[in-house]
Amino acid sequence: MRLRQTDTPLLAAMQHYVKEEVIPFHTPGHKQGKGMHHTLERIIGRGTLALDLALMEELDDFHEPYGCIKDAQELAAQLYGADHSFFVINGTTGGIYAMILAVAGPGEKIIVPRNAHRSIIGGIILSGAIPIFMQPEVDNDLGLAMGVTPETVENTVLQHPDAKGVLIINPNYYGVAVDLKKIVNLVHKHNMVVLVDEAHGPHLCFSNRLPIQALDAGADICAQSTHKIIGALTQCSLVHCREGRIRVPHLKAMLQLTQSTSPNYIMLVSLDVARMQMALEGPKLIERSIDLANWTRQEINKIPGLYCFGSEKKGDPGIFDLDPTKVTVTVKGLGLTGPEAERILRHQYKIQVELSDLYNLLFLITLGDREQEVHLLVAALRDMAEKYAKSYDFSLLERCINAPYPVAPQGVLSPREALFGNTCMVPFAHSAGMICAEIVTFYPPGIPVVCPGERITQEIIDYCQLLQQSGMHVSGPEDYTLKTIKVVD
Ligand SMILES: Cc1ncc(COP(=O)(O)O)c(C=O)c1O
Repeated sequence: MRLRQTDTPLLAAMQHYVKEEVIPFHTPGHKQGKGMHHTLERIIGRGTLALDLALMEELDDFHEPYGCIKDAQELAAQLYGADHSFFVINGTTGGIYAMILAVAGPGEKIIVPRNAHRSIIGGIILSGAIPIFMQPEVDNDLGLAMGVTPETVENTVLQHPDAKGVLIINPNYYGVAVDLKKIVNLVHKHNMVVLVDEAHGPHLCFSNRLPIQALDAGADICAQSTHKIIGALTQCSLVHCREGRIRVPHLKAMLQLTQSTSPNYIMLVSLDVARMQMALEGPKLIERSIDLANWTRQEINKIPGLYCFGSEKKGDPGIFDLDPTKVTVTVKGLGLTGPEAERILRHQYKIQVELSDLYNLLFLITLGDREQEVHLLVAALRDMAEKYAKSYDFSLLERCINAPYPVAPQGVLSPREALFGNTCMVPFAHSAGMICAEIVTFYPPGIPVVCPGERITQEIIDYCQLLQQSGMHVSGPEDYTLKTIKVVD
C-alpha cells in the first residue's frame, strides 16, 4: 500500500497495540503506568504511559526497521527530499556523532568551522578524526560569530585535499545562513562529503522566505533538531542523507553505535506526528511565524536603545541569508549586558529567552507563538528600555573584543589523543609550548582560542589574559579561572 503524508504509521501501530488490551510481559517495568509511583503517573497520565512501549514485532525494530518505523522514516524522507531519513532520539548531538563517525575515521581529516557546537567536537573525539578548522566571520558590533565564507571553505579544501569531508553549521543559532549552494558545489568538485549541522533548520523547506535547506543545496547528509523548532518532543531529531558519497549501511551502523537499544516510543511517535503536521500544515504555520517575527523585529527596532538585526545585514561577511524567526535583540544600547536583561525579563516580566550572550538576547518565534505572545514581548522590552536603562561603559570590553585574534594554533595531536593521553594541570601563564587537553572559549564571539591537541603559544596566553582582565568569562576549561590549564603530560 502506498504511504501518504496524512498517515502516521508508527502512531497507528502503537494505538492498535493499546486498543488490543494485551497483557504486557515486557519492558518498561511500570507496565503502562500501573507499577509507577502515583506522583509520576499523575503527571504523565495513564493515556501517555500506555504508549510507553517496547520493541516487538508489530512495533518494529528501531535499528533494523522493516515495518511501522521504516514507513514513518520513509515518509520523513519523502517530505524533506532525502534518499533516507533516520529518527534520532538523543538529539542532533546523537545525529552529529553518527554523521561524523560515518565520514571520518581515526586519523582522517574533517574540515569544520572553529565555532563548532560541542557535539561536533564530541563526534571528532569519538571518531579520532583530525579537525581542520575554518575561521568563521565575526560581527564585532553584535559580538557574534557568523558563517564561513565560500572563499574560506575553498582555501581550506585546497590546503587539505585529503580531507574526507566539510561540515557546515547552517543556519547558526541566530538564524544566519551561509552561501550553502556555492559551498556544496565547490566541496563536491574536490570530491569531499558535505555534512550540515542543520540543528536550527527543520522548518527551512516550508517557506521560500527562509534560507535554503541543506538537502536542496545538494548536501550529502544533515542533522536537524525537529524538537527545537517544530513539534517533536525534546531530544527528537532527524538525520537525512543522499546516496552517493554516503555509505548508507555504514551510517546505519554508526547510528546504532550512538543510540539506545531501548528507544522511547513516545519520543519516536512525536517525530512521526511532527512530520505529518508539517506535511499538512507546515507552509501555513511557518509563514505565520515569519510574519509574527517580522512584526516583532520591526516594533523592537522602534524602541530607543535596542537593535534587532534583520535583512539589512545580508551581504556582510558570513551572512548570506537569514532566518527571520530568530529574533536577536542587542541590548548594549541600554547599558545592560545580555544576562542582566535576561534576568530582568524573567523576574519582572515572566519572559524567558532562548539564550543571552554579552550583548544580545535571542528569542525564537515558532509555530507555538501567537500574536498575544509577541505583543507581550514587545511591551516588556519597551518597558524594560524605559525603566532599566543605565550607563554601562562597554568601551574596554569592545577594545578587547576588537583586539587582534591570535593566529590559529598548530594542531599536534587529534583531540581524542589529547583527551585520552596522560594529562596534568600546569599554571596557564607558563604553558606556552605545551599541548592543550581542553577547549578554551570566550563569549563573545564563542570561537575557541585553543582546542585539545593544539600547541599553546605565548600569544594565546596574552590574549586570554587580556580578555579575562576586561571581565570576560572563559568557558570550557576545568579551571574556569584559567589560573591553570590541562595539558598533555
Ligand atoms: C548548532 C548546533 N548544533 C547542534 C546542537 C545539538 O542539538 P541537540 O540539542 O538537538 O542535541 C545544537 C544545540 O543547541 C546547536 O546549537
